[in-house]
Amino acid sequence: MNYSDNFGKFCEALEGAGAFLVVEDKKGRVNVMTIGWAQAGFIWNQPVMTVMVRPSRHSHLMLENADHFSVCVPRRGEMKKELAFCGTKSGRDYDKIRACALKLKEGAVKGVKYIDGCGLVYQCEICGRTALKRETLPAGLLDKYYPGEEVPHTLYFGKILKAEDFR
Ligand SMILES: Cc1cc2nc3c(=O)[nH]c(=O)nc-3n(C[C@H](O)[C@H](O)[C@H](O)COP(=O)(O)O)c2cc1C
Repeated sequence: MNYSDNFGKFCEALEGAGAFLVVEDKKGRVNVMTIGWAQAGFIWNQPVMTVMVRPSRHSHLMLENADHFSVCVPRRGEMKKELAFCGTKSGRDYDKIRACALKLKEGAVKGVKYIDGCGLVYQCEICGRTALKRETLPAGLLDKYYPGEEVPHTLYFGKILKAEDFR
């Protein structure tokens, strides 16, 4: 499919139970976390998926040592338990893939894995990253999402290598 097909379904998932962010680091370790904040669009003359990950997440450490990620969107109403688990438990403490009995599949290039059984899958190659700075954000957002001295999200930009519809 084209990366922009099913944009509505993608947003519906983000606004609902979320989607899976799958990261394989350079040592071949894989972790899965649930995301609700992401953007798909066209920048640097290419389709790009941007995910926002807080520095406190184990996935953040993984992404700092990775070249790829995938975003896997379950079909409507499916995998809710798995999304809840991967959105509340950390890869520091759990092998979430095993705990949720997720089946990983090899992506189009080495270093990308995705979850079998998801409806939409975006395989991405990291093409940029930037940490949001507190001083660049308005007080309203800081108060609501980064109270105290909490460090804001890092944005990871991923060139969409392949977008697939398995629905
Ligand atoms: C519906 C939902 C959406 C979430 N979205 C995000 C997100 O976009 N970015 C983020 O950093 N954490 C998000 N989280 C929280 C992480 O998924 C959660 O902290 C997870 O345990 C992190 O796992 P890790 O430590 O293995 O990376 C979300 C959680 C849920 C339940």
